[in-house]
Order: sequence, then structure tokens, then C-alpha cells
Amino acid sequence: MAHLTASMSLETQAVHAGREVLHEQGIHALPIDLSSTYPLPDLEAGGRSLEALALGGLPEGSPVYSRLYNPTVARYEQALAQLEGAEEAVAFGSGMAAVTASLMAARQRGGHIVAVRPLYGGTDHLLASGMLGLEVTWAEADGITAALRPDTAMVLVETPANPTMAMLDLDDVVRQAGRVPVLVDNTFATPILQNPLKHGATLVLHSATKFLGGHGDVLAGLVATNHDWATELRKVRVITGNVLHPLAAYLLHRGLPTLPLRVRAQQAGAQVLAELLAQHPAVTAVHYPGLAGGDPLGLLGRQLKGPGSLMAFELKGGFEAAATVMAEVRLMTPAVSLGSVDTLIQHPAALTHRVVNAAAREHSGVSQSLMRLSVGLESPEDLWADLDQALVKAMAHCASHV
Ligand SMILES: Cc1ncc(COP(=O)(O)O)c(C=O)c1O
Repeated sequence: MAHLTASMSLETQAVHAGREVLHEQGIHALPIDLSSTYPLPDLEAGGRSLEALALGGLPEGSPVYSRLYNPTVARYEQALAQLEGAEEAVAFGSGMAAVTASLMAARQRGGHIVAVRPLYGGTDHLLASGMLGLEVTWAEADGITAALRPDTAMVLVETPANPTMAMLDLDDVVRQAGRVPVLVDNTFATPILQNPLKHGATLVLHSATKFLGGHGDVLAGLVATNHDWATELRKVRVITGNVLHPLAAYLLHRGLPTLPLRVRAQQAGAQVLAELLAQHPAVTAVHYPGLAGGDPLGLLGRQLKGPGSLMAFELKGGFEAAATVMAEVRLMTPAVSLGSVDTLIQHPAALTHRVVNAAAREHSGVSQSLMRLSVGLESPEDLWADLDQALVKAMAHCASHV
């Protein structure tokens, strides 16, 4: 039976986390509990358990109903809490469901949020929509303290941020936020490269659709945090029904042991591509922490254990060039999303960040010439051959239109 301790390596934890209880049950592989409801031992006990769950607690005996609790999902939550060094974690049906639940939980504490752009376009859209009845102040990275109000319930940041790879010093963000809890979207870094809770953040959020799933076949979200916030988040989940399906939790948990390997191998390929892109005549800038000048705050090693496998780059020919690259790649997939075992390329201003206010988008560096690349596990040589021929075609296309 596996006895995990927090001092064990992330590799060991990724293999065994959330599985200890299975050994006690004499099971080796992860089981999937697809029950939508559970037989109740008796009315009194069933009612007590339902009440505990409805208040965001854990089952007292029976799980009662799968919207309230599911053991397959709970084991995955336990694993991710362990990897992020959190007391607890709460899983949702998508990353946006996790963002929504976090904001709804914050809404109970105050009506104001401070956020730093850029953020994923969907998160920006949700905040800007006013749909959750929250007021938002958009702060610059060094303007968080000035943006705080007595009713500020949360500071929300992403680092590295989608899509520009802009990075924030989390020690500084937490210091600026003072008493206000900080939520860090850690989707780009994964728990393998960055653990925001160690820097004083209160909540760490993942679109588990990305690296945690890793194979492009699951939509999921996750928040790792302390017991009190987790209780609030579970309460929101019970009320709103934003649950993760147990089949999706199974796929996520099944893929977890290879997460450290995938992250490191994809990162090695990304470093190669970033260096080649930086020398390409069609490219005016590459935003990647692993390049010289790509980590202006000196976060590598101190906060971020590696540069990761995402990068943004800018093209000489602007939107036209980007559209040509999207049309001409043959091995990479022109698609939104990221963190999969295969390489994806997209144009944020036209796609993932289309819904963001245009002036704010430009201000945060999401220009018409910016492309985002998520490097997969293919050989970097094959990927470069593909990208290079697409870039050459983009240059030729732009030259023929001047
Ligand atoms: C950084 C980040 N956060 C949150 C989300 C939303 O996640 P989902 O698409 O799983 O709802 C995304 C999606 O791309 C993302 O990139």
C-alpha cells in the first residue's frame, strides 16, 4: 500500500495521489462509480447526509445523490489537492464553471473583484459581463493595492497569462492584496511548474481541460484551496449543479501519472521551437520565459520551475500572415485550447480573446499579429518543418499583397 508524504517528489505523488484508499479496498486500477443516486440506509441518516452535503460538507455515510458527491470525482480532487499542496480541491464541469463558482463564492463576501489583464478571454468576458452582479476593477500589475475597496472579495490573476505569457510575481501580488484572498489561474503552469499556494495565494484554479487532461478529450475545471473556501465552493456546486462527470474524473485521474513527464517533454520541444522562431525572418517577437529577456521579473526557479510549453509570437505580416499560417500548417492543428499531447496553434485576437473589449485587448498586448502556440509531444524537428513552411508561405503571401 502506498504511503504518500508531502516530501515525496511530484512524480511519485502524480502516480499514487488519490489512490491510497483503493489499496485498502483491494482494488488496483481506478474504478468508475456512475451511480446518479445511492440507496439510503434509512430516512433519518439519509437526510442528515444530504444536509451536510448541501452545506458544502462531506457525506455522513451515504453520498445520497451524485450531484452532491461522487467517489470517483472525490478521489481525483484529493489527488489534485495533494499536488497543489492544498487542504482540499473541488472539481467542476469545465474551467469556466470553476471560475464562475469561485466568483459566486466570492460574491458572498463582497461585491467587488480586482483583476489583472490579460486573462483567458472567457474569464474576461464573464467578469466584464456583470452577469454575476460583481463590480470589477481592472488593475495594472503594480496597481492592485490602489484598486482595493472595503468590499473587495477577491484578486484574480493568471500567470503565465493567456495568451501573451505575461508573468506576475505572486509574492508581490499577495503582498499588494493584503487581507484580500488571491485566486491564481495556474492552467498554463500546471502544478508541476508552479504552486501558487506556496506564495500565499488562497485559491488556485485550473482549466483541467488543458494539461491535466492532456489528451484533448475532457472538459473540466478544478479549484484547490483551504477547507473554508472548498466548503463554499462545494455549496455553490450543489446549488448550481456545475459538477464534473465521473467518466471525466476517471480520465483525468488516469492521465495524472504521466503529467510530469508530459509537461517536461512538451517544454523541451517548446524551448527548441521558441529559439528557432526567434530567428525566423517572418517573426518580430517571441514571448517565452525560456528565451533571453523572456523572464524580466526573474521568476524562473523562484516561482516557476520551467518555462512550459506555451508561447506567443508576433508576425511581420499582422493578421493576414497569421491567417495564412493557420491555413497552411499540416501537422499542427489550427485550434483553440492548449496543453494537449498534440500541437495546437491559434490567433487569440480573432478566437479565444475575440470577446474581450478591443481597446483592453490591444492594451494587454493581444494584437492582430499575435499567435499562440501550444507545443505537444511530436518531435520538434517535425513541428519546425511544418511551422517553417507555413511561415514562409505567410511571408510570400504578404509580399504579393504589398
Ligand atoms: C487560462 C484558462 N483559464 C480558464 C479557461 C476556461 O476553461 P474551460 O475551457 O475548461 O472552461 C481556459 C480555457 O482556455 C484557460 O485557458
